[in-house]
Amino acid sequence: MIIGKPFLTVEQIQSKVQEMASEISKDYERKDFISVGILKGAFMFFTDLVRLIHAPMSIDFFIASSYAKTESTGEIKLHADLRENIRDRHVLLIDDIADTGLTLLHIRNLLLARKPASLRTCVLLDKKSRRKAEVPLDYVGFEIPNEYVVGYGLDYENRFRNLPYIAIFKKST
Ligand code: IMP
Ligand code: MG
Repeated sequence: MIIGKPFLTVEQIQSKVQEMASEISKDYERKDFISVGILKGAFMFFTDLVRLIHAPMSIDFFIASSYAKTESTGEIKLHADLRENIRDRHVLLIDDIADTGLTLLHIRNLLLARKPASLRTCVLLDKKSRRKAEVPLDYVGFEIPNEYVVGYGLDYENRFRNLPYIAIFKKST
């Protein structure tokens, strides 16, 4: 397994997260809202982002998976659901990356069926060229090329999530 040098450095990530948090703080200034993270991939982005958002919020999480090694299976497994009731509440859905878009589409539909007051989606990374499902993204950090990346929450077989930067992952042959 080969991990390349940082593709997005700690500094690049932190300054983007700060930018996104400022925008979200402005948009949600007068709204009591709930930030919903999708674990495990979003854990690092989620914690960095919410601590920089200056607006009253609650938090909750889904645990979901769809990946087998580096390929999306297209089948979303939900391992844990929210504990909060989101009916009539403003929801900000936060994930690490929009790849095929199938996970976000699935979870958005699940949330919408619970009739929130509003629903916006925030991702750090957008791999647009891989999209299979049209899913609206309201806050996007970086658009990235079609490469498998690890670090900053993103994994290969549940490894490398703790890297503070994002690197392109290649399997050695
Ligand atoms: P999607 O359903 O294909 O949009 O992606 C679902 C999930 O797959 C994301 O939330 C990530 O956790 C994971 N994922 C997608 N692309 C990558 C990648 O390049 N590296 C690591 N995880 C990824
Ligand atoms: Mg993942």
